[in-house]
Amino acid sequence: MANNNIYVTMPTLAPLEDVTELLKGVWERGILTHNGPLIQRFEKEVAEFLRIKNIVSVVNGTLAIQLAIKALDLKGEIITTPFTFIATISSIRWEGCTPVFVDIDPETLNIDPRKIEERITKNTCAILPVHVFGNPCPIEEIDEIAKKHNLKVIYDAAHAVGVNYNGKCIFEYGDISTTSFHATKMLNTAEGGACFALNDKIHEKMKRLRFFGYDNKKDAVDDGTNAKMTEVHAAMGIANLKYLKQALDDRKEKYTLYKERLSVNPDLKFQRINQDCNYSYFPVIFPSETILLKVEKDLNAQNIYPRRYFYPSVNTYKDIVPYIKMPVSEDIANRILCLPLYYDLTREDIIKIANCTLEVLG
Ligand SMILES: Cc1ncc(COP(=O)(O)O)c(C=O)c1O
Repeated sequence: MANNNIYVTMPTLAPLEDVTELLKGVWERGILTHNGPLIQRFEKEVAEFLRIKNIVSVVNGTLAIQLAIKALDLKGEIITTPFTFIATISSIRWEGCTPVFVDIDPETLNIDPRKIEERITKNTCAILPVHVFGNPCPIEEIDEIAKKHNLKVIYDAAHAVGVNYNGKCIFEYGDISTTSFHATKMLNTAEGGACFALNDKIHEKMKRLRFFGYDNKKDAVDDGTNAKMTEVHAAMGIANLKYLKQALDDRKEKYTLYKERLSVNPDLKFQRINQDCNYSYFPVIFPSETILLKVEKDLNAQNIYPRRYFYPSVNTYKDIVPYIKMPVSEDIANRILCLPLYYDLTREDIIKIANCTLEVLG
């Protein structure tokens, strides 16, 4: 049931008729999964829209990372960021590897390439950075370190649909990039994700891995799993893709409005963008956690629900990983709040939220 609450985000949804039209075909054919025609169409249309060579759609962005690790046959330590969603870390651990944290750059909020080499050991097999909030990592620097130490690179690009870097789609970097089509993402299939590899052999392997390890002759030739997206989810993806450009333009406009309004207070800090971004989130860094909590409380009182994201810094999940201090990530995680940002949010809503935030700061 609709209510007047304003949440941190809401899915961007195509008109229902667009989806039901596609679903009629699903019902007529009786094909619900197994690389059906809508999956093939979804993959083709996404590849065309993003100008990418290869795509392997999967059930979610978490399994996309797991498939990527499996496809590269990684064993040992994987260098990653503590300023991410827990799924980055759980995927590494579920594949039997060990996450090794490297602190972040306080401006870009991405892994700090200057700190990577000191954490490389003889057991390091890969670097798995995250393009946080769709902001591209310093790809050249990371690739140079990876080459020097003979390491693989997987980019967790869960937030980065629609982002370009040096004139090409962000998904074409690293040995593999992965993304998420979760309900909250710029392009959603309710739940979903994808893996991208320019190397055709790796691409073909990921296709097999998502389908129990079967090859074309139905021989199980890889240690696979079931990560197939369904026709119903693909129908949502095809319908929503038609509105992606509109959604991206809208996000940028709203992001700019927030930034203009909030920049009048020099105590508020914003993520430094590296070239391009899809502006899918509006993170604000407050001078202290106390002020953040006061802003959150005042917004909640008006039925506005921003989200502390990412919070806490994942290196502090002591039940999951041995604690190693990551001062920058922990400090940022304590002071960062994502303000509401989505397609149906109005300019008036943004002005109200920005004003309320500024009032707390005085
Ligand atoms: C950085 C990051 N990686 C991975 C994921 C996992 O994606 P999914 O929810 O599609 O499994 C998320 C989810 O939000 C994420 O934020």
